[in-house]
Amino acid sequence: MSEIQNVGIRGIEIYFPHRCLEMVALAEADGVPAGKYTAGLGQTRMAFCGDREDIISISLTVVKRLMEKCNIDPKDIGRLEVGTETIIDHSKSVKSSLMQLFTENPFIEGCDQINACYGGTNALFNALDWCRLHGGLAIVVAADIALYGEKNARPTGGAGAVAILVGPNAPIVMEGTRVAFSENVYDFYKPHLSEEYPVVDGHFSLQCYLRSLDACYTRFCAQNGHLVGASPITAASFDYFVFHSPYNKMVQKAFSRLFYLDRQRLRGTEHGPAVHPTLAPFDDMPLQETFTSKTLQEAATAVAAPFYATKVTPSTRLPTHTGNSYTASIYHSLASLLENAVGGPAALLGKRIVFSYGSGSCAAMWMMRVRAPIDRLTSGLHIEDQIRAQQCTLRHLHAATQPPTRLSFISRRPNFSNSETSPSAEKRLNRSENGVTPPALASCLPIAPPG
Ligand SMILES: CC(C)(COP(=O)(O)OP(=O)(O)OC[C@H]1O[C@@H](n2cnc3c(N)ncnc32)[C@H](O)[C@@H]1OP(=O)(O)O)[C@@H](O)C(=O)NCCC(=O)NCCS
Repeated sequence: MSEIQNVGIRGIEIYFPHRCLEMVALAEADGVPAGKYTAGLGQTRMAFCGDREDIISISLTVVKRLMEKCNIDPKDIGRLEVGTETIIDHSKSVKSSLMQLFTENPFIEGCDQINACYGGTNALFNALDWCRLHGGLAIVVAADIALYGEKNARPTGGAGAVAILVGPNAPIVMEGTRVAFSENVYDFYKPHLSEEYPVVDGHFSLQCYLRSLDACYTRFCAQNGHLVGASPITAASFDYFVFHSPYNKMVQKAFSRLFYLDRQRLRGTEHGPAVHPTLAPFDDMPLQETFTSKTLQEAATAVAAPFYATKVTPSTRLPTHTGNSYTASIYHSLASLLENAVGGPAALLGKRIVFSYGSGSCAAMWMMRVRAPIDRLTSGLHIEDQIRAQQCTLRHLHAATQPPTRLSFISRRPNFSNSETSPSAEKRLNRSENGVTPPALASCLPIAPPG
């Protein structure tokens, strides 16, 4: 069977709850200097769901919007994949709930992919491979509500969803070979099946992220460097980078680490002495130390700085305002790049690398190329409008048996609220009568008394 050509991204739609916390206000409520959450973590705001929304409602909303935006006939979809780690049922997949949008086409393949923040990427890879074989259209959904019980991790929560239309003759296609890395680590996991909070070893999780980045980038350059056409290949040779963004400082650290990795990879070659010589003092630093060394981080950040503004900043707009949306995070970064690239979408006729990481862990790095104009992809995103429409609040919402929140807190239509989309949502709400906080209500951070 011949492979279908130019399979890739044909459409993208994002969603995030408009209810948000300003990081400055959150820092004040947490009794820490504002600089820790703003400059320290690099975040501006954090989106969170009220009691009207849950993983199913935000997934329905984003898929419905994608279908309207791209004029998708439900009968044309052959595969529907969901990546999420926001588990509200230990058996039934979110994908099956989404089938209420496809009642006239019950023949759609696919189900949920779960591995922390990586499930959405696995879903995308599955959809791309399926389309290459079958030639049909697929929808990939990545959606999560990121909540932490640990006080230190709380400012790195968030919420969001993305839906991606995958199919042939796409303007954005994969190029080269994708590189995967996976290992058995306990940096972030959810062993308590009755609660939504992860067990997280935050600082260790940053090291796991960087270790995965090291492995992926080194192998990626070896396998795909020739496509970039520069010699030697360094991070500066690539047009754009799109990172999984648990919080912005992690993205800054990841990007600057690529320059340290360039030096390590090339220092034994004829290019060695000329590659980032200011990083030479760190040549013999033990690997483990490099993950935490402040002096190395500062030196690498200085080398990376001239490139950060054009190659990375455009993709950080949405994640800095919505926080970590786990599986959706990297695709919120991609959507931000599509809308915010310096020179506009037309300037994107080039290449970029995408790096996706999921704790536990799974990671991948791959390259996508814009081979045709993407105006139709970007025209309906309205990321700036949606950021402007964010409504910041510090109010604590009490558990209740009926959703008390005004629907106006949920952003642009079409939207779904949990009470109208899922009988299990009603059951969850009723659980609050027994003193158990339902997931959707727990997502309203109890950081200040009602006011
Ligand atoms: C990220 C995390 C570990 C930070 O927790 P923490 O120990 O409370 O925070 P830190 O003391 O490390 O401070 C965070 C940053 O703010 C900086 N900072 C602290 N106070 C500051 C201030 N007043 N002004 C400016 N910066 C400040 C710190 O120097 C640090 O920066 P660095 O990382 O460049 O060294 C925690 O939020 C967490 O566990 N998050 C979830 C884990 C996660 O998302 N992992 C990634 C999975 S992919």
